[in-house]
Amino acid sequence: MTGNTLAIIILAAGQGTRMRSRLPKVLHEIGGRPLVGHVLTTAQRLGADHVEVVVRHERDQVVAALAHDYPDAVFIDQDEIPGTGRAVQVAVDALPDDFDGDVLVLSGDCPLADADTLRAFLEAHRAGQAGATLMTAVVDDPTGYGRVIRDESGGVDRIVEQKDASADEAAVREINAGMYVFRVGVLREYLPTVGVDNAQSEMYLTDVPGMLRRDGSPVAASVVTDVTVTYGVNDRAQLAEVGRLLNQRIVRRWQLEGVTVIDPATTWIDDDATLAPDVTILPNTHILRATKIAEGAIIGPDTTLVDCEVGEDAIVRRSDATLAVIGAEATVGPFSFLRPNTVLGARGKIGAYVETKNAEIGEGSKVPHLSYVGDATIGRGVNLGASTITANYDDVHKHRTVVEDEVHTGSHTTLVAPVRLGAGAKTGAGAVVRKDVPAGSLSMSIAPQRNIEGWVEKNRAGTGAADAAARSRVAE
Ligand code: UD1
Ligand code: CA
Repeated sequence: MTGNTLAIIILAAGQGTRMRSRLPKVLHEIGGRPLVGHVLTTAQRLGADHVEVVVRHERDQVVAALAHDYPDAVFIDQDEIPGTGRAVQVAVDALPDDFDGDVLVLSGDCPLADADTLRAFLEAHRAGQAGATLMTAVVDDPTGYGRVIRDESGGVDRIVEQKDASADEAAVREINAGMYVFRVGVLREYLPTVGVDNAQSEMYLTDVPGMLRRDGSPVAASVVTDVTVTYGVNDRAQLAEVGRLLNQRIVRRWQLEGVTVIDPATTWIDDDATLAPDVTILPNTHILRATKIAEGAIIGPDTTLVDCEVGEDAIVRRSDATLAVIGAEATVGPFSFLRPNTVLGARGKIGAYVETKNAEIGEGSKVPHLSYVGDATIGRGVNLGASTITANYDDVHKHRTVVEDEVHTGSHTTLVAPVRLGAGAKTGAGAVVRKDVPAGSLSMSIAPQRNIEGWVEKNRAGTGAADAAARSRVAE
């Protein structure tokens, strides 16, 4: 193997007590992915020979959440000995004996360290002679972080944890970002000698640089200028802050790719989403999971799309959709709710106050107002009148409704499934369709209308309605 082979160790065994959560800290999500998922995605981009994730707290839950998306990651169980030093030690022990490359150590709770930053960090390490290179940053408020203590000549001397720091040490504003590159030999040599004689009785990985220096070996530091890449999540306030920073980056990336984002502060785009040039995102809009938006589409305001596909030049206003496909030039909203497996054809319309689910709505077909369309196949050129409802559930089973091409239903039609409306059929207002309607037929199911004249004056005497009726009779 060459001296440049790379192993990445991601620390994810801690409990994350400060989150006060049932969920392990590293599984809390920002940008549509668990914190540690971002670190794993970055590791994938770096193309390491080995990627190891150290787990312990709720290890089954952590492994289950990641194994599918990151098939190349190897999960390593930390034992009952606590501390980042022990975590790295068990991971190094699991590397092949002949691995002689560099080990990049990352924290599962630091999701903002992107691939470009880490590539530069690795290069800085490889360009020098040090057995270890730390990533450090100079911050205004170093609270909670390990402090980087330098010697008189300005070199790294050691790292002191916050809880073990003297007042002078605590005043140092250069912090250990918790990301390191080590030559694997350094870890193999020094980790077995790291003790637990500190405020937290843990094996600190942060003891290794000081030990190296005591033996006269150099330790390098790479100071990052964008301190946000070092931000870790230890509590929920930091979770929100880091989530906001990630979103800011994602929004900016799409803006530079040609997407108009009117209000970046209220636009949330997950890392897996993709947007084409000339898409416009109006304020207060959430583009989540693997949503894909094609050129020229206009989304928002006040819209949430989860795992959706939106075609070219489509418009989606003030609506909520999950696992829906919206065709090119189609329009949706305002105020509609598209549930999974809604497929709206090109130039189709789902208008105001409409709920759809498991429904295929053909090209150019319209569901303009106040409807429920569930478990249905709607052909092309169909118009479902205001308040047309598919009654798909008979209290035991769900049934399908099939509406063939060019059908127009009257307002307030109820389609009692299973039922089929043949091509070009029409229904009268208020029709309750329980039997199939042959192609080209008009279906009506309303009893003849009966007007009982004088009923109001006789039965509601003295009311405003009765008075109005009386006046209108006199006027005649
Ligand atoms: C650690 C560093 C600190 C640094 C900071 C940067 C140590 C001792 N301290 O502190 O110098 O400034 O990160 O964010 O390393 N973990 C394990 N096994 C364990 C303990 C922790 O895998 O036994 C994992 C955690 O899940 C977490 C990471 O290691 O992902 C860091 O642990 P955490 O407890 O958050 O360390 P900090 O106190 O933040
Ligand atoms: Ca931390």
